Amino acid sequence: MTNVTVIGTQWGDEGKGKIVDWLSIRADLVARFQGGHNAGHTIVLDQKVFKLSLLPSGIIRKKLSIIGNGVVIDPWALIKEIETIKKQGLKITTKILKISSKASLILPYHQKLDELRENAKGNNKIGTTGRGIGPAYEDKIGRRSIRVCDLYDTESRKIQLKTAITHHNTILKGLNKKPIQVAYINKILNKIAPILKPYITNTMDLIISANRSGKNVLFEGAQGTMLDIDHGTYPYVTSSNTVASQAATGSGIGPALIHNVLGITKAYTTRVGNGPFPTEQNNNTGELLGKIGHEFGVVTGRKRRCGWLDAVMVSYAIKLSGVNGIALTKLDVLDTFKEIKICIGYKLNNKIIKTVPETYTEMNKVKPVYEVLKGWQSSTQNCKKITDLPANAKKYIKQIEKLIECPISMISTSPEREDTILVKDPFKQVN
Ligand code: GDP
Ligand code: IMO
Ligand code: MG
Repeated sequence: MTNVTVIGTQWGDEGKGKIVDWLSIRADLVARFQGGHNAGHTIVLDQKVFKLSLLPSGIIRKKLSIIGNGVVIDPWALIKEIETIKKQGLKITTKILKISSKASLILPYHQKLDELRENAKGNNKIGTTGRGIGPAYEDKIGRRSIRVCDLYDTESRKIQLKTAITHHNTILKGLNKKPIQVAYINKILNKIAPILKPYITNTMDLIISANRSGKNVLFEGAQGTMLDIDHGTYPYVTSSNTVASQAATGSGIGPALIHNVLGITKAYTTRVGNGPFPTEQNNNTGELLGKIGHEFGVVTGRKRRCGWLDAVMVSYAIKLSGVNGIALTKLDVLDTFKEIKICIGYKLNNKIIKTVPETYTEMNKVKPVYEVLKGWQSSTQNCKKITDLPANAKKYIKQIEKLIECPISMISTSPEREDTILVKDPFKQVN
């Protein structure tokens, strides 16, 4: 039995959904362990596009799919997503979707507060997805979440609701906004409770017993390392831990069961929302990367900022998550470029550094030091083996491996499931 944890090594949208879908054929269970419907994971099958936000990407292959305790769930968003996927021809039954009873709920006041806070920030806004993710995690840490289990326990629900609403109404009063009524929230919770009930279970026991009977689990991360609340470009981050260790706390397994960690790395870099981005190309190169890579957010439709691959950042992500294999995605987007750059260090106050600065203000000041490689100017799509790739593409891959000191286990050359090269099976890799 082997577990594989998939995490993003950049600012999200690295192509985690595609890789999780591809790998899930080797898994018995696929589990989400953090984030919420701020995530947008795309899977393309014969030009049919599936966009998932809360549902684990293994659901497309009808794998047992788990939404773990570390996820924040907007029940309406989940219900809507289940409906959308059903309309696309995939039945989401209570046999394949299981939701943790310990997950925290995103309620209407979270989304409202996300919006009010962002509007109040003016030029310093984070550029959140506006889904209430931050306020929902704040309530979790502040011990006033309404959790899934509270839907069915009148006593705990009453106490939690009172604490949460008192807190939120104090904030709303300060902002000159109308207070929330407990009765209104109670009414909507009553509506949701029976709809979610059949999916709810003790997901921790489910995962552990699956492992004990020799089944493989694939943990699907959302967002990316540089959006991690502890290790990302704080405060321009999301509100959860996005690193691999979160797979343990966010699903209820011990850290020794994390096994292999596959870091997903886009062959260049993108970021959606505000915050530092040393290799950003505010020029024709950035425009071209965005155009060829169709870089628009799945959740908000915003244009993603684009730039060259940053090996300093990816190395940092590898260390933080104990990554032992990389899936390099969107290599095809570079097919037409004459020259390709990789950032190998940062210049800060006339010194070259090879680490990610701790403050965003410093990160804003660094100037990337680039290594320039020759492009391959031919198509990589339809290459089924690494040996099929053009010589300069192989050189690019080799150079990345050298710089980040980590093997590349998979290469993706189009959004389609079939355009994937397997170099080393993450489920078979020895840690
Ligand atoms: P995720 O959030 O990490 O799952 O990534 P997103 O789905 O938000 O963004 C990745 C985008 O790139 C999606 O539109 C994918 O269909 C697409 N994609 C994934 N892998 C490749 C690839 O190798 N080549 C190209 N051209 N597109 C890809
Ligand atoms: P996937 O899983 C890219 C970004 C937002 C914003 C910051 C905080 O598809 O890779 P939040 O709404 O989480 O409070 O916003 O984080 N962000 C993402 N960027 N991909 C994502 O998810 C993201 N989820 C959040 O744009 O900058
Ligand atoms: Mg995405």
